[in-house]
Amino acid sequence: MNATINLEKKHFPVLLNELISIISPLYGGTFIDCTFGQGGYSEKILENNKNNVIALDRDKDVLTSVSKLKAKFKNRFQFYNLKFSQLDKIKIKDNKLKGIIFDLGYSFNQIKNSQKGLSFTDRGKLNMKMGINDFSANDIISNMEEKNLSKVFKVFGDERYSKKIAKEIVKKRNEKNINTEDLVQIIDNIKKYQKTKIHNSTKVFQALRILVNKEISELINALVNSFNLVPIGGIIAVVTFHSIEDKIVKFFFKHYSEQRNASRYLPEAKLSEKCFNLINKKAILPSNSEIRQNPPSRSAKLRYGIKTNNKCDFTEFREKFKNLTDVEALR
Ligand SMILES: C[S@@+](CC[C@H](N)C(=O)[O-])C[C@H]1O[C@@H](n2cnc3c(N)ncnc32)[C@H](O)[C@@H]1O
Repeated sequence: MNATINLEKKHFPVLLNELISIISPLYGGTFIDCTFGQGGYSEKILENNKNNVIALDRDKDVLTSVSKLKAKFKNRFQFYNLKFSQLDKIKIKDNKLKGIIFDLGYSFNQIKNSQKGLSFTDRGKLNMKMGINDFSANDIISNMEEKNLSKVFKVFGDERYSKKIAKEIVKKRNEKNINTEDLVQIIDNIKKYQKTKIHNSTKVFQALRILVNKEISELINALVNSFNLVPIGGIIAVVTFHSIEDKIVKFFFKHYSEQRNASRYLPEAKLSEKCFNLINKKAILPSNSEIRQNPPSRSAKLRYGIKTNNKCDFTEFREKFKNLTDVEALR
């Protein structure tokens, strides 16, 4: 979850002012908003009448907000119901692409929609599909082998009790189909003597959401596709919400903004060209007043890079996170 659960229970696009201030020097062109949600970022960019926005979202439930923006901004705004890993399907007609932005995670509307079952406070059948998915959390909990379940909870949730929880799930599912309440109960029983600041189910639910939505491979493929699409001088900006995402985004910008030896076996070989220029080496964080207004924004981090080179080999990037994509491929 990202921009959105807050004391006033309404939608606040996270780090909006910070994002706008870094992309506004490039105004006068097309921006791709890869995570449309309720359209907070898209709308703000379109308020400048020199800009066009192409927006994507995997969730069809955003279509009401899409219609509002279409009515207001007409042909300066286009929307595609696509996953952002499918960015390579987007055709930019006017050669005016200036930037690609991401605000990862879930919107307030998605979390409060109990049909989606993204929260451990929901009731009924496990789901967690954001849109354009191949399987649900119910499919995983009902069918995945015990050792793989445990691996998913450990790797994507850093869950200390991953093995015990996986074992209990396999035992219980022989008796009945495990729904959201059952899963929360299984975890509560195992952790009953533990005192933690977060809800007992937070980590397992995070792990399941990552797997159901293939969040890691989505992000890695989308970053590489963004690089290939954006012209030199264009910007890629990403707001992350959890530490796994931030590790991936940080590596992508930091590693490829340094000149490196093309081969470790030939130390005297020519240094590779930098792929990005980083203006801010560190992540941009929400201000205290934003965190007061919208407490979950405290986990958000904004990183961005300006593309400096057309040729970049992302093999190392993919290899670096292969341990994570391998776990996603278990299902
Ligand atoms: C945090 S919300 C974005 C909020 C948005 N910035 C705003 O101001 O309203 C994230 C959105 O990204 C979408 N999303 C998440 N992963 C996606 C993916 N792989 N491809 C396309 N959309 C995705 C979600 O469906 C959700 O609507």
